[in-house]
Amino acid sequence: MTSIKSGVVGYPVAHSLSPRVHGFWLKEHGIDGEYARYEVKPERLGDFLEHLDAIGLAGCNLTLPHKEEALNFMDELDASAKAIGAVNTVVVREGKRIGSNTDAHGFIQNLRDHVALQDYLEHAVVLGAGGAAKAVVYGLLEAGAKHITLMNRTRTKAEAIAAQFGARVDVSEWGYWEAFADASLLANTTALGMQGKEPLTLSLDALPKAALVTDIVYTPLETELLTAARTRGNVAVDGLGMLLHQAAAGFEAWFGIKPTVSKNVREATLKVMG
Ligand code: ATR
Repeated sequence: MTSIKSGVVGYPVAHSLSPRVHGFWLKEHGIDGEYARYEVKPERLGDFLEHLDAIGLAGCNLTLPHKEEALNFMDELDASAKAIGAVNTVVVREGKRIGSNTDAHGFIQNLRDHVALQDYLEHAVVLGAGGAAKAVVYGLLEAGAKHITLMNRTRTKAEAIAAQFGARVDVSEWGYWEAFADASLLANTTALGMQGKEPLTLSLDALPKAALVTDIVYTPLETELLTAARTRGNVAVDGLGMLLHQAAAGFEAWFGIKPTVSKNVREATLKVMG
């Protein structure tokens, strides 16, 4: 039997943790497979994707800056890729490239690992309005969120997402932290608070203690937002599980085994994060 191959395509791609994650699962399950890094310049992306099959890849993950451009080179898009407007996972099936976006699934599954999510879906406040925010909003709506409020520095970007996703999504002004007053869930999808970026400066004073707080930033694992939330008594969930669960969906599609997002894979990933 020939070995199954996949990998992550980005530019740059050296920083990607995905090879470590997939490498761990391949070894854990004794699969004769490979998951590599492919550094592909934006102008070469179409050519690369059109030759996935010829290169012998069962599919790939896409990372910055390719997630949106990749939409143009898929034979089929699933509902998540269409709604989010970005592809992070490609599966080649009978010669066809099928694009999906597993970020929303990763976000939701990570929360489900820690809490009974249905208890937190009354009113979610989402910080940010980039690609990650779209995935989070899509995931929350699919999970049954009743009301989502988007807050973003550039308000028009939040309004565009709200308009796309319909009546359950509205917008509040960035900096109006009183909007947290009846939130049951607060999610940061901006890069603020990430190592090397500006801090996320906000006030949690209005946030109910019963609200769930999560951050998609996982470097550092324990962001200031999560620490502040835990300190005042909120349940807080870090973002590493989102990375692992979004990866697990692709792994299952290419290699045929559903991997477990275990403590061991978390630790192996954290080890390379330093
Ligand atoms: P991604 O697609 O990965 O989510 P992005 O599109 O660059 O990344 O989005 C980054 C998010 O962080 C945006 O919501 C951005 O706000 P703007 O839309 O106003 O740019 C937010 N962000 C970045 N720097 C910020 C800052 N200093 N203060 C507030 N928000 C910030």
